[in-house]
Amino acid sequence: MKKFLTSLAVIGTCFLLSACGGKTAEDKLAAIKESGELKVGTSAEFAPFEFHTLVNGKDKIVGADMDLAQAIADKLGVKLKIEDMEFNAVLATLKEGKVDLGIAGISATPERQKSFDFSVNYYNPPQKVVINKKDAAKYNSIKSLKGKKIGAQKGSIQEDIVKNQLADPQIVSVAKVPSLILEVKQGSIDALVVEETVGASYIAQNPELQFADIDLKSSEDEAYAIAMQKDSDSLKKEMDKIIKELIDSGEIEKYVKENTALANKSTKE
Ligand code: ARG
Repeated sequence: MKKFLTSLAVIGTCFLLSACGGKTAEDKLAAIKESGELKVGTSAEFAPFEFHTLVNGKDKIVGADMDLAQAIADKLGVKLKIEDMEFNAVLATLKEGKVDLGIAGISATPERQKSFDFSVNYYNPPQKVVINKKDAAKYNSIKSLKGKKIGAQKGSIQEDIVKNQLADPQIVSVAKVPSLILEVKQGSIDALVVEETVGASYIAQNPELQFADIDLKSSEDEAYAIAMQKDSDSLKKEMDKIIKELIDSGEIEKYVKENTALANKSTKE
């Protein structure tokens, strides 16, 4: 009987503290600090935000988002662990709690807001169409791309942009942005939709490509933010504070500039 009462008391306390059966999202920040490690999910095929490069002959994941992740880890006083995966898997992996944050140029759309918490926005590039230079006169309007094969990254908002803003497109969804770039160059697709900063980085590395003279609608809803599990109140507060500081000090702009230069250099060496 005594044992039974004790377990009742334990269960009762658990309810009060709502702390049993795993960490609640509420104390996620404390849990990260306690573990000494910040696990960040990304998809490193998206220069200048996250990409692979050789540092002293060794493969390394770098980019503006990775500088941001490192700054956050430093401020929290923990080690940074980067988990690289297909973009399509980043939010699912975060949902399962296998990473603490998703930092991958993730657009904080209203749809995604339903399932995740997002920090304040840290970057907002417009949407662009990338084509071969030799097609520049041919593909210069939405109408001129009617019925064409248009690429977008699998699981990205660009899939919706292709479907909603282009005329009768044959959408081609591909896991990685560099593969899409290659497909445009080879002519297996006619164009691809990507955010400007990223498109510009790959165009700089592939001089036969350029932006088409076509205006797509962009919105504040597509700005990049850090994704967290739902109800990460204390963690979100901390992320917002850090991001605001990094924006105000010009640090985020600096990360993007430096990594754009690094991305250009990496492939030319
Ligand atoms: N901003 C777009 C989205 O959230 C594309 C992001 C792709 N990111 C990446 N690391 N490949 O859907």
